[in-house]
Amino acid sequence: MCCERLRKSWHMPLSRRDFIARATVALAAGATAAACGRNGDSEADLDAASDSTPLPRPAFLRNADDWNEVRDQFALSEDYIHMSALYVASHPKAVRDAIENYRKELDSNPVAYLNQQNRRRVNAALSAAADYLGVDEPNDIALTDSTTMGLGLVYSGLRLSKGDEVLSTTRDYYATHEALRLASMHKQISVRQVPLYENIHDVSEESLTDSLVKSIRPSTRALALTWVHSGTGLKLPLRRISDAVKKINAGRGEKKQILICVDGVHGFGVEDATMSDLGCDFFMAGCHKWLFGPRGTGLIWGSPRGWENMLATVPSFYDDGTRNAWMTGTDVNGRTDGRRMSPGGFKPFEHQWAITEAFALHREIGKARIASRTHELARQLKEGLKGMKHITLRTPLADTLSAGIVCFDVNKMNPFAAVNRLRKRHVIATVTPYAVRYVRLAPSIRNSPAEVEAVLREVHALR
Ligand SMILES: Cc1ncc(COP(=O)(O)O)c(C=O)c1O
Repeated sequence: MCCERLRKSWHMPLSRRDFIARATVALAAGATAAACGRNGDSEADLDAASDSTPLPRPAFLRNADDWNEVRDQFALSEDYIHMSALYVASHPKAVRDAIENYRKELDSNPVAYLNQQNRRRVNAALSAAADYLGVDEPNDIALTDSTTMGLGLVYSGLRLSKGDEVLSTTRDYYATHEALRLASMHKQISVRQVPLYENIHDVSEESLTDSLVKSIRPSTRALALTWVHSGTGLKLPLRRISDAVKKINAGRGEKKQILICVDGVHGFGVEDATMSDLGCDFFMAGCHKWLFGPRGTGLIWGSPRGWENMLATVPSFYDDGTRNAWMTGTDVNGRTDGRRMSPGGFKPFEHQWAITEAFALHREIGKARIASRTHELARQLKEGLKGMKHITLRTPLADTLSAGIVCFDVNKMNPFAAVNRLRKRHVIATVTPYAVRYVRLAPSIRNSPAEVEAVLREVHALR
């Protein structure tokens, strides 16, 4: 449609269906401004408005080996030691700049910029996520707003029948338990929580795997797990668990296979692992914690087998199949995938697009280096805490059973009082949001060994 016709049609009354169809085409396929210059009147002309030039791969750091330079990427207040990477991200410069650039362009011409950029920016974000997750198929990834949104979509979308069971543990976060409670009300499936251990300091990869696997019943169709528990810092041996489940699945028919669904947020951006290392079917994470991605962003990765067993809940704006079927009045074909699972509606696009820069920065620093730095700082912290008489450490020491979260009790001190005292001493800690409360510190690549030492001195003084 050329400019003249577009201008005229602007004033013509449209049926609701026409209006929605045009708006949807404009968003998803790319339209208006650039198409105006092409004198075409087909959808292909509108499509051509979308900028298809490859996006540059910028470098953000002069020396990616320099942890001081990495720390300088964050605009965090220097008045505090921020041991709170598990909570919500402070945007690093690469992400701040990207958001700011996209925001300016969107504010100056939202429709034209969106039409021109959305398709390629979303594709770039999905490719960057696929690269990080070590998977070949970007379309197996859905873009969400958060871990919580991913958990809600996955547990309510699993194709389960009345009587099927989802097995979770007593240690998962509220978002998993509540998503499962809601799913059980929608679908009349049953949900069971099992305790994984009695004393966290007695656990091993083997004991955790055994206690989970022995709880599986013939009706169990999905495991709802959390990679790194935010109430204790315990990391589950997902690979061992998935290997054990694989053996059980080998003796089951196709319709009775057990799917492993994981809240992965506190390993995501920390551990040097790919999806095939973990062996799960669904992996949900927010990008706005340890990855230091844009606030309000997250993802779901699903295995092909997982997607076969999934239905989307929210209409997608990134799935050409469902949109075209709606427009042509035909059946929706094909199974659910990441695009179909991505909740539609207009987004804070500048945040969603800037996921790419968060992954690019992470890649530049190095996934393995980030994992080893985070573990080193957490180990330093745990070893220091363990030597203090008034402290009870609640997180395992072993790297295989922990990541970046460190939880502890201060003898005879309420955890809120301890966190408040620390905050007065300019240390940002949090209290675990669980029935049993602990003090929680989360060192990350934004911190240094000297900061860990300073925090240990402040914890030592908590008496
Ligand atoms: C284990 C766990 N999952 C999910 C969440 C929520 O993450 P999001 O903000 O990405 O929904 C939290 C805490 O914020 C958490 O500790």
